Amino acid sequence: MNELAKELNGILEKSSPAILSMLSDYGKKIYFPKGIISQTAEAKEKATRFNATIGIAKDKNGPLFLDSIQNFFKEDLPPGDLYPYAPSPGRQDLRQLWAKRQRLLNPLLKEASLSLPIVTSGLTHGLSLIGDLFLNAGDTILTPDKIWGNYRLMWGVKNEATFSTFSLYNDNLGFNLKGLENSLKEREGQKTLLVLNFPNNPTGYSPSKGEALEIRDILKNACEKGSTLTVLCDDAYFGMNYEEDCFTEGLFGLLQDLHQNLLAVKIDGPTKELFVWGFRVGFLTFGIKGGTKEAYEALSKKVGGAIRGGISNVTHVGQTLLLKALQDEKLETQIQNKVKILKERYTEVKKYVSLDKYADLWEAYPYNSGYFMCLKVKEVQAEDLRIHLLEQYNIGTIALGNHDLRIAFSSLSKSDIKEFFECVAKAIENLKK
Ligand SMILES: Cc1ncc(COP(=O)(O)O)c(C=O)c1O
Repeated sequence: MNELAKELNGILEKSSPAILSMLSDYGKKIYFPKGIISQTAEAKEKATRFNATIGIAKDKNGPLFLDSIQNFFKEDLPPGDLYPYAPSPGRQDLRQLWAKRQRLLNPLLKEASLSLPIVTSGLTHGLSLIGDLFLNAGDTILTPDKIWGNYRLMWGVKNEATFSTFSLYNDNLGFNLKGLENSLKEREGQKTLLVLNFPNNPTGYSPSKGEALEIRDILKNACEKGSTLTVLCDDAYFGMNYEEDCFTEGLFGLLQDLHQNLLAVKIDGPTKELFVWGFRVGFLTFGIKGGTKEAYEALSKKVGGAIRGGISNVTHVGQTLLLKALQDEKLETQIQNKVKILKERYTEVKKYVSLDKYADLWEAYPYNSGYFMCLKVKEVQAEDLRIHLLEQYNIGTIALGNHDLRIAFSSLSKSDIKEFFECVAKAIENLKK
C-alpha cells in the first residue's frame, strides 16, 4: 500500500477507528497525491521569476481566454475565477461559505464539529464517491423500499453491493420505525451503510419531528449493540418542507454527534436548493462523535484523492457563480420565494388528489415535502397507465414498480394541476374498460 495511504489510515485508526473499519478496500488504498499538487503549491510562493508548473495556458495577467466565451461573463467575474482548474476538494472560500450556510439553516449544526464540506460534481458524484469509499462487493446497503433509482446503478451495478430494503411506511402510513429497527437488529454487530433521503424521492415524504427523534434513538441503540453504521443523509431537497410537523432540520444534525461507531454523511448542494440543476456542484460533509480535525482531514484527503483520480476537479465556473450567489444577501429570500411556488403547487395537489371521486382509482402515499408525490394506482398497471397517459393525453409521468406512479408536481403549473389529475383519472377509467 502507498505510504501516504498508510499515513491517512494511521490517523483514522488513532482518532476514529470506526471510520477505518467502514472503508472499502479502495477507500483504504486511496490517498491524496503530493506530486504535482504540492510542487505547484511550493512554486506559488517561491517561483516569482518564471512559473512553469501549472498545466494551463497563461500570461502575466492570468489565464489566456477567448472573447467568445468571456463575453458572456460580467466584469466582476474575472477570468482567473473561471478558467483555471479548481482544487480537487473544491474552492476553499466556497467550502467555507457552504459550511456557514449549513450551520445557519440548521441550528443543530451550529456548534458541531464537522469536516469542511468537499465540493463534488453534483450530489450524484458525492453519492457515487461514498459508494467507492465505503462499499466492497457484497457489502450490505440498507434503505427504505422507495428510493431514487440511481442508487441501484451506483451502489448495486458499480460497487456490487447488496440492497436490503424495508418498507418506508408502516401500516398507519407513518415512517416505518419498526422496519428500520428490525432490519438493524438482523444485522446486529455488523457494518452497514444506511441511506436515508428526506424529503424523499420518489414519495415526497419527510419524517415528523417525533419520528426523526425515534430514528436517532434506534440508530444509537444499534451502535450500542455493536453495529458500525455509515449513515448517508441524502439532503437533495433540504428546506422544501410544506407541513408544520415536518422535521425540517435534516437527520444529519441529529446523527453527526451520536456515537463513535456512527459516521454521518451529509450529501447536499445547490442543485435543488438553489435551483441550479445543471451547474453540477454538490457537497459532502462528515460528522462523527469525537471526530478530530486530523481525522476529518485524513478522510477528506481520501475523498480529494478519489476526486482527483476520477474527474480531477469540479467545474470552476459553477463554483464561482455559486460563491457569488452565496455572498448575495438577497439569496435566501429569493430561494424562499421559489419554495413558496412549490408549496402552492403542493397545496393544489392536496386539494385535488384526495377527492372522493378518485378514491376507487388510487391512493396517494403520504407526502409533505420536496418535488414529488406518488400515487398507488388501483386495478391497472402503472406502466400501462404511463404509456396511455403519454400516448392519449400527451402527459408524462414515471411508472415505478407495478402500481406506483411518480408525479413531479415541481414541474407542473398550479393552474394545470386540477386538469392533470382529471386526465389521470380518465386514463385509468379507459384502461379499466
Ligand atoms: C434523492 C436525490 N439525490 C440526489 C440527486 C442528484 O442530484 P444532482 O443532480 O445534484 O446529482 C437527486 C436528483 O434527482 C435526487 O432525487
